[in-house]
Amino acid sequence: GAVAVILAHPAGNNAPPSFTLTTAQPNIPVMGGGSAHHTWIKDLLDKGPLTLRITTNQYVNPMGTNVIGIRHAVGDPDGTKAPIVMVGAHIDSVLGAPGAHDDASGNGVSLEIARVLSQYPLDKELRIGGFGGEEGGLLGAKAYVNTLTAAERARFVGEWQMDMVGTPYEPARLWALTPNGQSNHVVQEAYNAGARVGFDGLRNCRLGQSDHQAFFDVGIPSSLFIWLDYRPPTPPAVCGPTGGTYVTEPQYHRPTDTMDNISPERLQITLDVVGGAVAHNALNAVTVSA
Ligand code: PHE
Ligand code: ZN
Ligand code: ZN
Ligand code: ZN
Repeated sequence: GAVAVILAHPAGNNAPPSFTLTTAQPNIPVMGGGSAHHTWIKDLLDKGPLTLRITTNQYVNPMGTNVIGIRHAVGDPDGTKAPIVMVGAHIDSVLGAPGAHDDASGNGVSLEIARVLSQYPLDKELRIGGFGGEEGGLLGAKAYVNTLTAAERARFVGEWQMDMVGTPYEPARLWALTPNGQSNHVVQEAYNAGARVGFDGLRNCRLGQSDHQAFFDVGIPSSLFIWLDYRPPTPPAVCGPTGGTYVTEPQYHRPTDTMDNISPERLQITLDVVGGAVAHNALNAVTVSA
């Protein structure tokens, strides 16, 4: 099955990054389950040709535009019944900031996940969300969740939001932030995926302030994945009920938010953590074990 990409706003300053997602290949890897498939996912994500590609765009139009890629599950060609796994990022940036980190980085990792998974059959529906108008108040994501029927909402396994996932700013760490500070299925899958590749740096605490909030508000499990100098109230990294404070990198919402200030290593970690979680959920070639 091809990945359907809907380009509702093909030109102008608010144009999305160029989406070129390839179609399925006939070869299905034989997965043994256990840790074997996790090694395979990492190998796949690490391969040279799987280079991250990121472009930038600038938010100038308060109307914004959502760009949603949908790939139906095997056995559900009409896309009416399979569970839905969604990854999201926002495609706008603030005026005056090119938005390489905020949030072309998130879109780059989203598209890489889509491209890798395009080569395999899926037993869940994969949705890639490029949300407009995030900086104006989560406008695109709120509009998007409002288009979902109750039946469609009920099919959601979760939404993995990536916003600012590539800063080289040294104090930043990878956080899984939820609007209520509680862990959920989306967070837990990310922890599991990190553990499978030997990354134990992920922490969970409380924050809204990105598109995951819109999903949370309608009862869909979601989390924001973000490299941020986030400071939980209770050391040494325990999340209290009110959440913490944070300090942003110097490039945040500035003209210096350019590709010069993007860390490939942190993009790769994000890809391992979020891509690994999504692959574990969506690939029917992967044996899901307890
Ligand atoms: N929505 C925020 C933004 O795009 C993401 C963010 C959250 C930034 C928390 C900083 C701190 O600017
Ligand atoms: Zn921003
Ligand atoms: Zn952002
Ligand atoms: Zn597993």
